[in-house]
Amino acid sequence: MKKDLISIKDLTDVEIKEIFDLTQKLKKNKSKFANTLKGKTLCLIFHKPSLRTRVSFEVGMFQLGGNALYMKEDISAGQRETIKDTAKTLSRYVDGIVLRTFGHNNVVELARSASIPVINGLSDLSHPCQALADLFTIKEKFGKLKGITLAYVGDGNNVCHSLMYSAAISGMQMNVATPKGYEPQTNITSEAKQFAQGSGGKIALGNDPEAAVKNADVIYTDVWASMGQESEKQQRKEIFKDFQINKDLVKLANKKALIMHCLPAHRGEEITDEVIDSANSVVFDEAENRLHVQKAILVKLLGERK
Ligand code: CP
Ligand code: NVA
Repeated sequence: MKKDLISIKDLTDVEIKEIFDLTQKLKKNKSKFANTLKGKTLCLIFHKPSLRTRVSFEVGMFQLGGNALYMKEDISAGQRETIKDTAKTLSRYVDGIVLRTFGHNNVVELARSASIPVINGLSDLSHPCQALADLFTIKEKFGKLKGITLAYVGDGNNVCHSLMYSAAISGMQMNVATPKGYEPQTNITSEAKQFAQGSGGKIALGNDPEAAVKNADVIYTDVWASMGQESEKQQRKEIFKDFQINKDLVKLANKKALIMHCLPAHRGEEITDEVIDSANSVVFDEAENRLHVQKAILVKLLGERK
């Protein structure tokens, strides 16, 4: 049976740990895995721009001995041909697909019709590869995930959703502070709360950034207007202005609190230069870990298939 990576909620705590164990090995010893995906091809279909996701998947495949194919064309959005036909065709050529798209259903449908693994490279709803790289980074820095408090300040968006699932599954406390009306989706919040009950973690929502960062070990933010929301940019700038990560807010967290951002950052909006460039900022470690974590995902999904 092929396995996909569509959402963090499809993973167990044990599976996340297995991915992280393999990530550590891959990060330590690049040459040992140089032929792991020899002869395999990964197709990247991107309906939105990307720096990190595209480059880290392409480089990752190269480092594992495989090949990556980048498609910017408007394929698999259902216009030129159906998603189903695209999935079936690609399944005859390549060994895996990464889809970055708008509607989350595009990923679900592609995965349903493809006989090869499909990886969600970001949808309007979620960004699982990002959240896994972020948790791996937190684990590297603190040596554990359980009991760590992560404060997410900003928009209740795709990145926030995936972080909520992963924090909840891993037994972390996640405080989310958004402006009213920009909270994460209620169904995702309730699912995450349920996961947290089982892991000893906690998910707390509010509209007060100061309360959220109090005693936090990690402060996380993301852009106020995501890809596809460009027309709301000005309006959101006004609505989110009190949700900026600046030095006054950081002061309220634990002294050694990590500063995280999935990037790209809009400096001077959701985060100040001073904070993103500070000694506690690990934003480029997160970016680097995208490569290592995704290599582990690729080995697990493409390498272990019979
Ligand atoms: N964080 C992230 O996914 O970056 P890109 O949009 O550049 O891929
Ligand atoms: N929330 C952002 C994340 C970019 C990696 C977006 O969807 O544009």
